[in-house]
Amino acid sequence: MMFGFNVKKTRKDFDVLSSGVIYFDSACMSLKPRQVIGKMNEYYEKYPACGGRSGHHLSKKVEDEVDLARREVARLLNAKIDEVIFTRNATESINLIANALEWKEGDEIIVSDKEHNSNLIPWLKLKKKGVKVRVCKSNEDNTFNLENFENCFGEKTKLVAIVHVSNLDGVENPIGEIVKIAHKNKSLVLVDGAQSFPHKEIDVKKLGVDFFVLSGHKALGPTGIGVLYGRRDLLEDMEQFIVGGQTVIDSSYEGYEIEKLPNKFEAGLQDYAGIVGFGEACRYLRKVGLKNIEKHLNKLNKIVTEHLGEEKKIEIIGPKEAEKRSGIFTFNVKGMKAHDVAKMLDASKKIALRSGAFCVHSWFNDRKIEGAVRVSFYLYNTEEEVRTFVESVKKIILLV
Ligand code: ALA
Repeated sequence: MMFGFNVKKTRKDFDVLSSGVIYFDSACMSLKPRQVIGKMNEYYEKYPACGGRSGHHLSKKVEDEVDLARREVARLLNAKIDEVIFTRNATESINLIANALEWKEGDEIIVSDKEHNSNLIPWLKLKKKGVKVRVCKSNEDNTFNLENFENCFGEKTKLVAIVHVSNLDGVENPIGEIVKIAHKNKSLVLVDGAQSFPHKEIDVKKLGVDFFVLSGHKALGPTGIGVLYGRRDLLEDMEQFIVGGQTVIDSSYEGYEIEKLPNKFEAGLQDYAGIVGFGEACRYLRKVGLKNIEKHLNKLNKIVTEHLGEEKKIEIIGPKEAEKRSGIFTFNVKGMKAHDVAKMLDASKKIALRSGAFCVHSWFNDRKIEGAVRVSFYLYNTEEEVRTFVESVKKIILLV
């Protein structure tokens, strides 16, 4: 693999692109480069054993590879190694926190009005324990409103659970300021980084967040692997969520002694192929450079926005300015159902994108919008693909 970034060369690492697909659904699931697939195969072919248990050489190799993968993730996040907990996905990471923190009746949680179901339902579920969930309203153009946010705090606000980059419209929330305000109010901050980790440089220490969650499958990694970053002192004090093998040092019929981080939270036999595959994905991202990726996505979004942003029959979800929507262009064609637009694009030009509510049903229900069509770019997309998309949408518009 080359160092730096060249989209033509990058595309050669993604076999499925040779089918002619124009893949614009990376916010749901990114494609996987052959290096990641190769690394997973390497696990199954060369050291298909379990880690942390048996003492033989294969098992030792698994442990070393898992350790290397954890180091790669930690490096991308600027976290300490034992602050990186492997989970199945961002959803499971959020559920871990929701279940491991102690909640008292009257405790409050603040979320934004644009949260993915995965960063909303686990908190709404806590209502059964008497926890209150406050929703911070965005500005008219769907950008974050810091004044509304400050007004959401009460005496018992324990946690702010907020998306970093929205999978609905690509808007980035001002996490630095959010953290300052939250900490001033003595609340913890959990950031849903599923949509930011794959596309921009992240430094959890600089951001000052307490928890940061992400999914491997949106960041060139395999499905079924995710991460919870947590500040070490918080993770050390926190209750376990799922317990069992590997989470304890010793047990008797009466009790057990809890393992140190990160094992404390990684119960049962792990997805070793997924972990090493995700480690490889992180290495790939690091070598390409997240700044290069971010720049590339902005460039593509600018092109599509320039050509479709002024069309009277197109409604953009989120701010009009491309630079405020990272690699996402979500829209509706007036007078047409989102699913129909998506199907036409797929059938005519093999353009694969997502239509619907993108698991942000609460936002769509609140605005009484049925759904939308979403284009989400990644490092393998080209300007030529964007132009094909623009031309196809222009033809579709003529039908209404
Ligand atoms: N969060 C994923 C998406 O936005 C599933 O498509």
